[in-house]
This record gives sequence, C-alpha cells and structure tokens, in this order.
Amino acid sequence: MDRVRVVHTPLEIYSQLAHERSAGRTVGLVPTMGALHAGHLSLVKQAKKDCELAVATIFVNPTQFGPNEDFSKYPRTLERDLEQLDNAGCDYVFVPSSEQIYAPGHSTFIEPPSVASRWEGEIRPGHFRGVATVVLKLFMMVPAQVAFFGRKDYQQVAVIRAMVEDLNLPIRIEVCDTIRESDGLAMSSRNRYLSSTERARALGLWRALQGAQELVQQGERDVGKIELAMQQVLLAAPVDSIDYARVVDAQTMEPLQQIEEVAVAIIAARFGSTRLIDNLTLYRP
Ligand code: PAJ
Repeated sequence: MDRVRVVHTPLEIYSQLAHERSAGRTVGLVPTMGALHAGHLSLVKQAKKDCELAVATIFVNPTQFGPNEDFSKYPRTLERDLEQLDNAGCDYVFVPSSEQIYAPGHSTFIEPPSVASRWEGEIRPGHFRGVATVVLKLFMMVPAQVAFFGRKDYQQVAVIRAMVEDLNLPIRIEVCDTIRESDGLAMSSRNRYLSSTERARALGLWRALQGAQELVQQGERDVGKIELAMQQVLLAAPVDSIDYARVVDAQTMEPLQQIEEVAVAIIAARFGSTRLIDNLTLYRP
C-alpha cells in the first residue's frame, strides 16, 4: 500500500485537509462504517471524478445502533478496507477511535429532521439521531466541499439533505446509484451474515421491487395493488418478516395512494436474523 494516507486523529485530518484546501484543491468525502464492498468503492470513484482528493472515513458509529442491534458483531475488516481504498485511488482515510468521536461525557446530539420519523426512524428509534450526529461531526472534522452517499440508504440521504439545508451547512450532497450483485441483490456489509439459503431467499427483495416497477410500467397507479404485489413476492421468497414494503413520495417519503409524482418503493425485511433494506424508483412523470 503506497498511496492512501491513513489518519487517526480529528486534529490531523482537519489540518491536512485545511492545508489541501488552501492550496486550492477540492475535497470529496465518503463516510463509511467499513466492511467495504463495491458499493462503497463506487462512491470513492465518484469522489475522485468530481474532486481532486477523495477522503473516506471508517467508523462503526455506536450511536446509530439500537440496544438489540448488531453493533458488536458488525464486520470489521480494516486491513482489507485500506487495501481496497488504496486500489480505488482514495487519497486519505480517516479512522478515528471511538473515544475521539465520543469522548467520555459526550452529550450533544442532533435532533433529526422530520423526514426521519417514519420507516427506519420508527422501527429503529434513535438511529437517525445517531447518523445525523456522526455525519455532522464528520463534516466538521473533514472540511470537504462535496459528500457522497449511496441511494441504497434512501431515507438516510433524505435525512442528511434536510440537515444540510436546515443547518446551512457549506457542503454539497451527491447521491450515487445502488451497486448490485449480478443477480440484483443490493450490496451491503450485512449480506455476509446470510447463509446460502437466506442469500437465495433475499433475492425476493429485488424481485418485489422489479415486479412493482413492471406493474407501474404497465400503467398501474393504485399503490394498494402495487404494495400487495410486493408483499406477495416477499412472502413467496419466503421472507421471515417484513418491516415495511411501501410506495412513497420520493421527496417527502410520505405514503402515497395513487402514483402521480416521483414515487419510490422502499422495503425492509428480515431473512433469518439479518435485516436488509432496498428501494427502487418506480415512476418519474
Ligand atoms: P455504510 O453502511 O458503511 O455505508 C456507507 C455509504 O455507502 C452510504 O452512503 C451507503 O448508502 C453507501 N452504500 C452502501 N451500500 C451501497 C450500495 N450497494 N451501492 C451504493 N452505495 C452503497 O451508511 C452508513 O455506513 C452510515 O450510516 C454512515 C453514513 C457512515 C454514518 O455512520
């Protein structure tokens, strides 16, 4: 590994990048929790295209995990992550310790915007409070002009966009398409929890989304019918449980009854003990 510079402290990443910025270089930020796959690397490559320097961060953020979630077993693959970032042309990677982000006694949090209240926000209480807090902290530590996020986490993008607007943050948000395995399963760090039979069943997510898109292409506008069709495909997979399988307004993420404006299908479902999310834009007028 000869290129990517690994930085461990907030002071060091800030001063390095402030120096780069004063030399006139543009900085693109890619926040991650590590366990990197081609989806993460596509964000780094986009950052390299749009900016002179790409900066990734790797931090498994404890405050966005619920008490019964997978924080302690979340995959940590730092050596391989650094190799992959190096190969993708990443310039800096910031790998802080937990104490550097949440010093003892840390008690300040961001109240997330209203788009955080449904779906993931409802099922994972406190999740977006943790995401918004850590993302704002990363924006403060890494002085980037642009930050890159994946459409795979559709509501996360909506939350971060609203936070950036509400708090007048001087950063532009770019959203990159979901990278999928060749059979359509969205890449996710959590896919490695799946057994081979669960992996095969998890394809139901993509089939349900594609089925919904086909219905809309055939002229169906009744959201009730589309949601029922998605449920049927998921149950046939079979899925172990469905948290939601809904069609929502692309901007507000409010539920729809009829498709008129840009509409997105969003699904969260469990296969074994693994919870996966995915989404697909169904309609653009
Ligand atoms: P993580 O799940 O590691 O994802 C980091 C970034 O990669 C996110 O922007 C996510 O949307 C994007 N991503 C994940 N899978 C993708 C795929 N298949 N195609 C394209 N992009 C994909 O999201 C988080 O981390 C955290 O919540 C974070 C923003 C880092 C805050 O802790």
